[in-house]
Amino acid sequence: PRKIIIDTDPGQDDAVAILLALSSPEDIDVLGITCVAGNVPLPLTIKNARIVCELAGRPDMAVYAGCDRPLGRDLVTAEHVHGKTGLDGPSLPDPTMPMAEGHAVDFIIEQLRKQDTGTVTLCPLGPLTNIATALQKAPDIAERIAGIVLMGGGYFEGGNITPTAEFNIYVDPEAADIVFKSGAPIVVMPLDVTHKALVTKERNDAFRAIGTPVGVAVAEMTDFFERFDKEKYGSNGAPLHDPCVTAYMINPDLFKGRHINVEIETQSELTMGMTVADWWRVTDRTPNATFMGDLDADGFFALLTERLARL
Ligand code: BDR
Ligand code: CA
Repeated sequence: PRKIIIDTDPGQDDAVAILLALSSPEDIDVLGITCVAGNVPLPLTIKNARIVCELAGRPDMAVYAGCDRPLGRDLVTAEHVHGKTGLDGPSLPDPTMPMAEGHAVDFIIEQLRKQDTGTVTLCPLGPLTNIATALQKAPDIAERIAGIVLMGGGYFEGGNITPTAEFNIYVDPEAADIVFKSGAPIVVMPLDVTHKALVTKERNDAFRAIGTPVGVAVAEMTDFFERFDKEKYGSNGAPLHDPCVTAYMINPDLFKGRHINVEIETQSELTMGMTVADWWRVTDRTPNATFMGDLDADGFFALLTERLARL
């Protein structure tokens, strides 16, 4: 199995991404879960992460609290998408498992130094504040990272919080800029891909039909999440953004993309947080990321449903 650290701001789709990882020990070894402020403020993301671990039957998981605000800006949240708790939809009990001691950023640094070089993959599902802070505090870790597989950005699909910016990058563009310039191998799951991972009525029924607390909770989460995208984009169901990251760790062949240069806009108020992806390779800027453009949606949902049924 590949060792990963999940950096997250749950979030219903973050929750499904975590459940997928925890359901697949033969493919993924979750070293720990580090939380960041994003969809909702940090006190709620650390609560939600533990709710999800307990739902998965993993109260032993190490869950760390990280940065409570972006590097140089005020926090922007997304209750309009995820509800007041960040995990609206199912009614799940408050967690009783403790938080792990120490700061998320120190855990990330310590693991990257302790594990063999090139064996730990970072899986960011929220704003990149924790990852950038770790890179700033310990520049030596950059070359030890096996890869950074992140959900963020959008190119042909545009943005979802401004016309050109996707939420995770928009919330902390300076952090994203540090990550994209770090030299670590990066795989990006942008809106171009995640807007194809839609929970249609049929796929939602398949989650519910699993019949376990996990299956039912996932169906209720995606039911809730769906109302926003349906109204806003007239889409056919809720986009499961973040699970694209953990699905990639299990089966990368589900995704297609290009190794290209991606820069983050940090100056212009109009396009702040845009992922400027050189998809057509019209510049001579050095490629720094594999920017995904397509996924096998049926294969993705088959994997997700089969794995979630194990929990
Ligand atoms: C991203 O923003 C959050 O609302 C989701 O959890 C996902 O990580 C999608 O833009
Ligand atoms: Ca997220």
